[in-house]
Amino acid sequence: MIISSATDYREAARRRLPPFLFHYLDGGAGAEQTLRSNVEDLQAVRLRQRVLRGSAQQDLSVSWFGRQYDLPVALAPVGLGGMYARRGEVQAVRAACRRNIPFIQSTVSVCPLAEVAAQAERPLWFQLYVLKDRAFMRDVMRRAWELGATTLVFTVDMPVPGARYRDAHSGMSGPNGPLRRVLQAMLHPRWAWDVGLFGRPHDLGNISAFRGSATGLADYIGWLGANFDPGIAWQDLQWIRDEWQGELVIKGILDPEDARDALAFGADGIVVSNHGGRQLDGAPSSARALPAIAAEVKGKMTIFADGGVRTGTDVFRMLALGADGVLLGRAFIYALAVQGQAGVERLLAIMEKDLRTTMVLTGVGKVAEIGPQLLAP
Ligand SMILES: Cc1cc2nc3c(=O)[nH]c(=O)nc-3n(C[C@H](O)[C@H](O)[C@H](O)COP(=O)(O)O)c2cc1C
Repeated sequence: MIISSATDYREAARRRLPPFLFHYLDGGAGAEQTLRSNVEDLQAVRLRQRVLRGSAQQDLSVSWFGRQYDLPVALAPVGLGGMYARRGEVQAVRAACRRNIPFIQSTVSVCPLAEVAAQAERPLWFQLYVLKDRAFMRDVMRRAWELGATTLVFTVDMPVPGARYRDAHSGMSGPNGPLRRVLQAMLHPRWAWDVGLFGRPHDLGNISAFRGSATGLADYIGWLGANFDPGIAWQDLQWIRDEWQGELVIKGILDPEDARDALAFGADGIVVSNHGGRQLDGAPSSARALPAIAAEVKGKMTIFADGGVRTGTDVFRMLALGADGVLLGRAFIYALAVQGQAGVERLLAIMEKDLRTTMVLTGVGKVAEIGPQLLAP
């Protein structure tokens, strides 16, 4: 199959992965309205075509928290990365380091922090959920810091798990889940051999390290379900701001008032995100929410955005709508599932070329020059 885009990687991932994994990755909450509008609203953003602006050189580098990166892009935290590819988080972090962009490791990664850190350049970025088990949070924050994480991405849009109907149908959850997953693995031998057999242990590395015993997929669903904390409020988080010595980025902001609260809380950045349409179905797309948030906090903190980004032009669109940086979620996981580290590197090369072309065609030389003045009416 010819691969020239994230869309091609998606199709190849659909063929390679057992359905319970593909649909867990690909799906969203409820009727998936927000999931769809993330992609559609972003693609509907029209750009001004400018000519003869003499933009022969494009500088795609950015500076976040005092460090230079080669692209205005980071790899988003995605749980269970090591189920899509063999030791998936390790392969992803290698690709990110090769391209000099951040990889944000999820709390619920398969590979533990130490395994990823052993393959990565510093600084590391680590994502943490708001969980009832404060001892776990303290322990994992301490370990992350000791291993060289300086940016903590704190995800706040998951006080409860969203309703993911596809999971019940796919075998991820629902009746006879374990049996159906085994049968699906047998029907996807390339995945079964590469990841199912040789990608073990299929642990939640960080949770096992804390508990001192192995955890599996069933534990994942059970542990997370029991540990989300819907009662939490900003004041309950102050200890995290006080204890974490590095940068703190609040992920899951979709409302200007919450962005203002994040600033007052002392966050160094936010991620404008609806969790890839996996939480509140009916929430606006990130593309739609971003301009009002940028109007509120642009220049006062670093604004990242994610949701529906599939091309380099989409990266440009998010920047034009007000982001300082863009996170890739599903797009990089599709590539990881199909070709591992090489796939992620290739996807990033495709997106870089695409972004460069878009910059030439809009007459822009630097990422910092991309802004709302380039949006077509
Ligand atoms: C399968 C999957 C697992 C995810 N796991 C996490 C996670 O562990 N922590 C987190 O903060 N966000 C998680 N997210 C959300 C992503 O970080 C990101 O916000 C979202 O995927 C962006 O949308 P996109 O996939 O359309 O690019 C997950 C998303 C997917 C698709």
